[in-house]
Order: sequence, then structure tokens, then C-alpha cells
Amino acid sequence: MQKERIRKVYGRRQGRPLRGDRQKALDTLYPKLSISMECLGKEGTLAPSSLFEEKTTFIFEIGFGSGEFLHNNMRTHPDIGFIGAEPFVNGMSSFLKEIKDEDHSNIRVLMDDALILAHSLTSDSLDHIYVLNPDPWPKTRHHKRRMISQRNLTEFARLLKSGGTLTMTTDVDSLAEWMCTQASIHPDFEWTAQKGDDWRTMPQGWYQTRYELKGKEAGRQQSYLIFERR
Ligand SMILES: C[S@@+](CC[C@H](N)C(=O)[O-])C[C@H]1O[C@@H](n2cnc3c(N)ncnc32)[C@H](O)[C@@H]1O
Repeated sequence: MQKERIRKVYGRRQGRPLRGDRQKALDTLYPKLSISMECLGKEGTLAPSSLFEEKTTFIFEIGFGSGEFLHNNMRTHPDIGFIGAEPFVNGMSSFLKEIKDEDHSNIRVLMDDALILAHSLTSDSLDHIYVLNPDPWPKTRHHKRRMISQRNLTEFARLLKSGGTLTMTTDVDSLAEWMCTQASIHPDFEWTAQKGDDWRTMPQGWYQTRYELKGKEAGRQQSYLIFERR
């Protein structure tokens, strides 16, 4: 009941019908790698450490799309536990198809609203949260749908360990300004930028998703907004 009350996913959750290999990945891998709904009922009770064996560092990616950034991260850091939420069926199936032959011991996923998972996770438990290219919802009357808001930042601050990091990116300038302002005025976050153009500089070891590359080809500039939990 409570889960239904807080679920908020705007826009489509399924696009084109899935091809055989994607459907197969969804049918076989999702049951193994997904966080069960029973774990999501009670607020602040799901410890990330309970989802993995022998992991102490945890990273949550919100709205991972086709999961290219997440995939690269989980391959590069086998010692870290990665949690990803993506409600779009085509995105989730694409990600699962790509990782089907890999080690799955450091990845758990949810095909639903990331905020349901956020509410369920224990406090001070995450090292990093990524919100990459969230939907911009450009119309003023839709701004309340944006993933970055004071309310959601309070939730992200609750989840992050002290000194933990929130990285937000976008190639929509008005959304960059919005996210930067929201996080800057939030009492629990501090912007890590040292120089004026830091927010336009790709972080070291960054992996560009197709979405990010498409924006670049179209002449848009990506912003990388990195905030630390105070
Ligand atoms: C523009 S895409 C960006 C995808 C990916 N992060 C990237 O940079 O390539 C935004 C994504 O956010 C997802 N999304 C929207 N609302 C969400 C929610 N409440 N929880 C989790 N993901 C959400 C969408 O399904 C979509 O895949």
C-alpha cells in the first residue's frame, strides 16, 4: 500500500516490443539480480551490505537508461557493490543482455521508481549516488517531476555516508542551473568545484554514455555537478 503511494514514474515505461535476446535476458537474469519487493516495504531498513557478499563500498545509480555507465563501473570495480534503478523495461533489458556473461556478484537492480528503493535503504550506507542526465521536464508546471528537488536531496543526503558524493550531469543548461542551485542551497551538500570551469570538465576515468555522446555531437555541452555530503 505504502509502496504504491510513493511510486512516481513519469513518462513511458515500455517502448518497442523486446527482441528475443533482450526478453530472454529479462526473464532469466532479472529474477536473479533484482531486489525483491519484500525488501522494499519498510523505510530505512534495507542495508546495501545485505545485498552483496563482502562489500563495504556501495554506489547507487538512479535512472541508468541502457546501463552503459553502470556496466563500465561494475566491470572496473569488482570490489564495489552497485545498485541500479531503471523503470524503463527496454533500458533494463538492454543492460541485462549486455551483462549476461559477466560476473554478477557486484550488481543488484530494480525495474521501478528509484525513490522506492531510496526510501527503503538504510541511512549513511552509500558512498556515491549518480543521477546522470535525468529527464529535464522543461515546462514549468512539470518542474515538480524533476529528480533533483529539495525533498529528494534530503533523502539522498540521508543515504550518503559523511563525505559521500552525489554526481549529477546534464546537457540541458537550464536543468544544470536548476540542479546546481537546488544542491547548493541544500544544507547537507557542498559543491566540490574548485575552479570556474570545473563543472564543464569531464571527471577523470569518466565513461560517456550514448546519450551523452549524442548531445555532444549535437553541439550541447555536458555539465558535471559533483556535491559532497557534509
Ligand atoms: C534521459 S535518460 C538518461 C539515461 C542514462 N542515465 C544516461 O545518461 O544515458 C533518463 C532516465 O531516467 C529514468 N527515470 C525516470 N524517472 C525515474 C525514476 N523515478 N526512477 C528511476 N529512473 C527514472 C528514465 O527511464 C530514463 O531512462
